[in-house]
Amino acid sequence: MKRVRVGVVGAGGIANVHARYLREMPEVEIVAVADVVEERARAFAEKWWVPRDNVFTNYIEMLESVEMDAVCICTPHAVHYGPSIEALRRGIHVLVEKPMASSGREALEMWEASRRAGRVLMVGYQTRFAPELRAARRIVSSGALGRVYYCETTLGGRRRGIPGTPTFVTRRLAGGGVLLDLGCYALDNALYVLGFPRPVSVSAVTEAAIGPQETAVVEGGWPWNPREFEVEDFVAALIRLEGGCTMLLKESWAMHAETLGTTFFLGTRGGMRLQPLEVYRDEWGYMTTTTIKLPEVDPFREKMRAFIEAVRRGGPSPIDPREAVVEQFIMDAIYESARRGREVEVRLPPELEQSSQEP
Ligand SMILES: NC(=O)c1ccc[n+]([C@@H]2O[C@H](COP(=O)([O-])OP(=O)(O)OC[C@H]3O[C@@H](n4cnc5c(N)ncnc54)[C@H](O)[C@@H]3O)[C@@H](O)[C@H]2O)c1
Repeated sequence: MKRVRVGVVGAGGIANVHARYLREMPEVEIVAVADVVEERARAFAEKWWVPRDNVFTNYIEMLESVEMDAVCICTPHAVHYGPSIEALRRGIHVLVEKPMASSGREALEMWEASRRAGRVLMVGYQTRFAPELRAARRIVSSGALGRVYYCETTLGGRRRGIPGTPTFVTRRLAGGGVLLDLGCYALDNALYVLGFPRPVSVSAVTEAAIGPQETAVVEGGWPWNPREFEVEDFVAALIRLEGGCTMLLKESWAMHAETLGTTFFLGTRGGMRLQPLEVYRDEWGYMTTTTIKLPEVDPFREKMRAFIEAVRRGGPSPIDPREAVVEQFIMDAIYESARRGREVEVRLPPELEQSSQEP
């Protein structure tokens, strides 16, 4: 079996989750790690048996001096672009954590770099491997709901759950707040279920409502520093899609409420909600509610396996990176609409019109 040599950039929280699953696969070797905080890189190397000589504080040095087939990019959102481009340029396959980047332009360049290099570029949406989401997509594409004209998508929002590290809350590292952190999942989930209709326009609001408050209570969440809070902790966006479906995306890291509700889809012949997956229809002269029995799967394990498998095959990426690029442009439009206080068009660059996935 061909060995797969993997490097890791960013040795924080999620990198350790990557490592745990990588170590389960006998064909995978974690060959190097880079983190700007040296102790973190060293601790990671010790824990996951990375050769001591292959610990770096500079990811370019790591990519230059250690031979590897693939790299996991586990840095803050605004540091996804640089390592991805540098790795792809050297012919190294990339698994980049979500969100793909901190802007549409960055994401587009990353996608183009992967096509030029003929290497896998996969965005770390483990949600794509969740049986529930796959079943939901199958139900919608079967036509069981008729024409889906409206959906709401959210992970539910957190009453208190602002991430406690600068990675997520300082503009320089995060590039944005809850939209980029959790909203990207909500957006990807719903677009995936709908089969990626083209986005048309967006009307959105964002708020930094609780994050900057010195007196906010942090019970039930992680402590954060209100003085370094520079992003939004709430977003709501109405997204018009080609074909007539309108999506309401809502997300929150902190609010004075328990929940923002659930993800659901309304169609002319049926409706559907997620978590738990239920389908609502009129059948046999009755209103029916169907619950779907789903297999138990660890989506994170599936994501890591799918990436390694794609690397061994030489592509394609298990998740089409083009879809994540489109999402990034939608998120740009959400921020623009919130800033301007009005509806804006989602402007997709012409490069995105070619839909083929390479390699
Ligand atoms: N898929 C998931 O379930 C999931 C969960 C958590 C986080 N994430 C994503 O993973 C990314 C990292 O999140 P985290 O929770 O691990 O954050 P973290 O703060 O725990 O770790 C980030 C690490 O990157 C390092 N870093 C920063 N700049 C660097 C650079 N230029 N070169 C090398 N290292 C650098 C930091 O020192 C830190 O150790 C984020 O984009 C986040 O959205 C994904």
